[in-house]
Amino acid sequence: MSEMMEATAGLPTASLGEQIVARINELGAISETPEYLARIFLTREHRAAAELILDWMRSSGMDAHLDAIGNVCGRYEGERPGLPCLMLGSHYDTVRDAGKWDGPLGLITAICCVGDLHKRRRRLPFAVEVTGFADEEGVRFASTLLGSRAVAGTFVESALNVKDRAGISMREALSTFGLDPEHIGAAARARSELLAYVELHIEQGPVLEAKGLPVGVVTAIAGATRLAARLTGMAGHAGTVPMELRRDALAGAAECITTIEELCRTDHGGLVGTVGYIHAMPGATNVIPGQVHFTIDLRTPTDTHRRRAVTDIVRHIEAVAKRRKLKLQVDVTHENRTVPCAPWLKAQVADAVAAEGYSVFELPSGAGHDGMAMIDIADVGMIFVRCRGGISHHPDEHVDVADADAGARVLLRLIENFKPRDAAR
Ligand code: GLV
Ligand code: MN
Ligand code: MN
Repeated sequence: MSEMMEATAGLPTASLGEQIVARINELGAISETPEYLARIFLTREHRAAAELILDWMRSSGMDAHLDAIGNVCGRYEGERPGLPCLMLGSHYDTVRDAGKWDGPLGLITAICCVGDLHKRRRRLPFAVEVTGFADEEGVRFASTLLGSRAVAGTFVESALNVKDRAGISMREALSTFGLDPEHIGAAARARSELLAYVELHIEQGPVLEAKGLPVGVVTAIAGATRLAARLTGMAGHAGTVPMELRRDALAGAAECITTIEELCRTDHGGLVGTVGYIHAMPGATNVIPGQVHFTIDLRTPTDTHRRRAVTDIVRHIEAVAKRRKLKLQVDVTHENRTVPCAPWLKAQVADAVAAEGYSVFELPSGAGHDGMAMIDIADVGMIFVRCRGGISHHPDEHVDVADADAGARVLLRLIENFKPRDAAR
């Protein structure tokens, strides 16, 4: 017996929840700065995280590789090689000053579940694949779901020309990372290769906690529209230009922002709107701001309502710009329709939840997920895991080890009992 085996012999094996939390902490330490967590697409941290995840996949019995856009892809063969797969996954990029769980929980749980099958030498009548998507948050290139869009074959070539805030294009960033921007198409998968796409994710809201439940069955992922607005006025001297003669782009943006907030606040169809980024130029204390860029993120439970709301909001901010003699340009940077989870997958998730002894509770997702892109090549199912206080996109994001374990047991049961759609009918 090796020294290591001797030392651990007789100790209870870590539960799935404990394994998941240990890996969440290890991955959560890979950040562009020790001050806060930020793991951004096509950076050194992206590379370091990918290497770690590939190691985990391989030690869990999977063949694993980095694909043409930087997703990590693991495959655990079924009873014979080459069978279509149940694909599991989530993203491993983060927002800035992120929590450790948004994305990694689903990815790590899937890897730990495959590791459990591997340990038991359990092969299934289908393959299980796990994909870690490289960009879901869209922090770097004002676009989102880049990893899952590449897998779904819907990556838009023109995105390669988009520049980050340092002026680096996605094309350049891919090359620096060691990927060929002309071969992103190689990441695409065919519908015939996938039996379904199932993602486990933290809820990112307070509903499961209020219900006293560790897990939930997701019904749909709410659609979203993201806009980039550019207001142009006239820069000038802060001491000499009388107030009535100013064309202050930042004061105009402030009025646009409060107008957007008011329109969302008074909406009765569940519209939520966020201006999460603003940049004023030239950005000096004694200069009237001549140009401002800001983003707008709008979400609703239904697509028709969101489309109407987008038109209405743009009309209102155009009126603000006109009254203040500012030029306004608004571009749509992201548009995703609401994605329903497939009823046959919802039923299998519900069966797995009930079999683990939990009440079956259905809820929609207000947050975006990789399933929004994967729907183009597979039916989508989702499992939510309770998070503390519903907090997300914040360093206080937290999942109890017992809930991580509950989520993993539900996912493992779903995998082991999984019936492809035709067989499930
Ligand atoms: C992703 O986290 C999103 O919903 O914006
Ligand atoms: Mn997120
Ligand atoms: Mn997420």
